[in-house]
Amino acid sequence: MTKLLINGKEHEVNAENGVPLLWVIREQCGLTGTKFGCGIAQCGACTVHLDGQPIRSCITPAISAEGKNITTIEGIAPDPTILHVVQQAWIAEQTPQCGYCQSGQIMSAVALLNEYPNPTDEQIDAAMSGNICRCGMYGRIRSAIKRASASLQSSTL
Ligand code: FES
Ligand code: FES
Repeated sequence: MTKLLINGKEHEVNAENGVPLLWVIREQCGLTGTKFGCGIAQCGACTVHLDGQPIRSCITPAISAEGKNITTIEGIAPDPTILHVVQQAWIAEQTPQCGYCQSGQIMSAVALLNEYPNPTDEQIDAAMSGNICRCGMYGRIRSAIKRASASLQSSTL
């Protein structure tokens, strides 16, 4: 068995034979907020954070995450009763349509804002370019990132 630290909690998992982190997160740990889209690192639906960096969990061997901090969509809020500022902005902008891509979008947006709390359009484009939305909600995703950024600025004034 392999111990993985996910959202601050230790999970004993079977990470043998190169099983991707995505399968372990969803099927062994029951954290189904992270989605399977393409399975070949092309859509971003499976995005989680590894030591704060966004990665594609569909192509990341679970064993390679041993000893690192894994964060999924279930773990970004400060506590289970409070949504993360990015989640709040997503709701305010009514960003999701079908919703399937959105946890991956949010994980990329959170990583972007952690690095650049007031990102330029170019920084948003660079950070979000690997997250595909088949519903075409790109305008609202951008608006939600800007709303979250504004909230972050006002909370630090
Ligand atoms: S499912 Fe991982 S990038 Fe598409
Ligand atoms: S909201 Fe449907 S794929 Fe993005």
